[in-house]
Amino acid sequence: MSRVEIINRTEESFLPKRKIQKIVDLVLKEEGKQFPGVLVVAAVDREEIRNLKKRFFGQDHYTDVISFLYGFSDKDGIWGEIVICPAVAKEEARARGVRNEEEMSIVLIHGLLHLLGYGDEEPQERQVMEERQEALYQLLREEEEREKLVRKAIRAKNHAYAPYSNFPVGAALRGWGGEIFTGCNVENASLGLTICAERVAVAKAVSQGVREFEKLAIVADSSSYCFPCGACRQVLYEFAPQLEIIAAKSDKDYEVISLASLLPRAFLLENGRKE
Ligand code: THU
Repeated sequence: MSRVEIINRTEESFLPKRKIQKIVDLVLKEEGKQFPGVLVVAAVDREEIRNLKKRFFGQDHYTDVISFLYGFSDKDGIWGEIVICPAVAKEEARARGVRNEEEMSIVLIHGLLHLLGYGDEEPQERQVMEERQEALYQLLREEEEREKLVRKAIRAKNHAYAPYSNFPVGAALRGWGGEIFTGCNVENASLGLTICAERVAVAKAVSQGVREFEKLAIVADSSSYCFPCGACRQVLYEFAPQLEIIAAKSDKDYEVISLASLLPRAFLLENGRKE
């Protein structure tokens, strides 16, 4: 985790602290960079960012973000500063028809990329930077989707009925339309009648008309990640051969693996599946 210091000198709401830290960590990781020292992220009002733009860049207009790279001579010092104006970012969000948090996240990614050497003066370098910015934002979204799914699986695990094994499991299955179906294991005195969390989630989804799945999160209380049992792999494969499996201990600690790699050369009836 990089060291980030956040300052909000405005009355405006800004990105939550956790989100800023997450974005900084993700961008530095994806760019293969790690720095000692501190990164400052400061939210300022319109007049302050305008003054900074004028003073340091000789341009007299409002802007959403300015980055200052201070260098790495002082290992415990501040290596960079990203100054963001939430008020300007929110105006842009309205103009583009996106949520404020989305626009402010993109603005922060933009500021970070400047610190890492990306430029946007020339059309060619601007295109490279914009593509990178978009790709990083999509990665952020995907990570957040995974974390959300894991949190849903954890909540479902609390409902597990597992008095025989004492091994509660929770699952959360996400359809391509974004719908989420959860499941927990349901055991029985006649032990073989036990149903796993994953199959409960699949049955709930299919019974509600959803058959196409993108991701599945699984959580148990074990010290290692819990992957679906063989029977569940086969049931999941019936509907989602391309499924992404997220085996999690928490929303910060998970492993992503494809169902196809967990069930190679899977069995399917040639004329079996009907759309
Ligand atoms: N179990 C699941 O619900 N999902 C898995 O992927 C592994 C196993 C349940 C079944 C049983 O209730 C308990 O865990 C112990 O096998």
